[in-house]
Amino acid sequence: MKKIIVFGLFLVVSISLMACGQGASGTDEDGVEEMTIKFSHVVSENTPKHQGALAMKEYIEDESDGKIELEIYPNSSLFGDQDEYQNLASNNVQFIAPDLTKFVGNNPQFNIPALPFLFPDDEAAINFWDGEKGEEVLSSLTDDGVLGLSMWPNGGKQITNDAREITSPDDFEGLKFRTQGGQVLESLYSTMGAGSESIPFGELYTALDQGVVEGQENTFSNIESKKFDEVQSYMTVMNHTRVDYAIFTNTEFWDGMNDETKEIVEGGVEKGTEVARAEAQSLNEEAYETIKERGQVEIKELSEEEIQEFRDTLEPVYEEYEDDIGTDVIEAAREAGE
Ligand code: LMR
Repeated sequence: MKKIIVFGLFLVVSISLMACGQGASGTDEDGVEEMTIKFSHVVSENTPKHQGALAMKEYIEDESDGKIELEIYPNSSLFGDQDEYQNLASNNVQFIAPDLTKFVGNNPQFNIPALPFLFPDDEAAINFWDGEKGEEVLSSLTDDGVLGLSMWPNGGKQITNDAREITSPDDFEGLKFRTQGGQVLESLYSTMGAGSESIPFGELYTALDQGVVEGQENTFSNIESKKFDEVQSYMTVMNHTRVDYAIFTNTEFWDGMNDETKEIVEGGVEKGTEVARAEAQSLNEEAYETIKERGQVEIKELSEEEIQEFRDTLEPVYEEYEDDIGTDVIEAAREAGE
């Protein structure tokens, strides 16, 4: 009897080990591992981030003959701003692409997209993040088990609010704005006599609707796709700060793939980067046209003189943050736009 039990146990253990081996290696004849990976983000489908994610999915699934599946969860449907980073660090999700200014608490150098009028266009921002200093910043979260792979742009941010037309820094006085993160964005508003509060993107529409804040700043594509213009009355085209993302992955997941698998996933990230970069500007231009057509907000395009007044007013923010961010990093960012 004892022998039968021991033999039975041996069988169960052997079968489990075999199954486990298959799951762990789970490779096809080309050595590609079978796996399902998740990409979570907070924005709508009609945005550069989602278009980049779709291109990444198509590439990875095609190149792996469906062995690797990429599930995309838009609109905070899996994780939102509050919990996506922790879930990436725990490997519950393998890719996220958050707005970099949401990480200023982890490293103040992520304030770069919030520095006023720093980058003239997407190309300048891309140049910076692809350069030595940008890559150093993107790699600064490895202690958390998180690696920044590449920057995906969205674009310049515009101000919307429900109180009054904004044409000069004085118009901000006494209003409260939602920001993506604190530090530079907070200082920018307080410099103009306004208050600010960080609110997760998924809660922003309701916060605007209920008057928790009077306004917010975002790209045309985020304003249009989330219909913030429905609950706002004015929009000033400022392009004073930016929404830029990085594709972040979990280092354990990233380093754990075999070479054949990693080559495909890396190729997918490259493809996604190419598409997000190529689509960002045109998606924002289209979104701007849609906002105009919807006619929900009164739109103000600032003149050169009006922009200069904002530049002059907001310049002290640079001095306030140059030690935290590093003059070398700010200099590299300025040079990226020249
Ligand atoms: C926001 O929170 O306003 C944006 O950064 C969201 C996004 O990911 O574009």
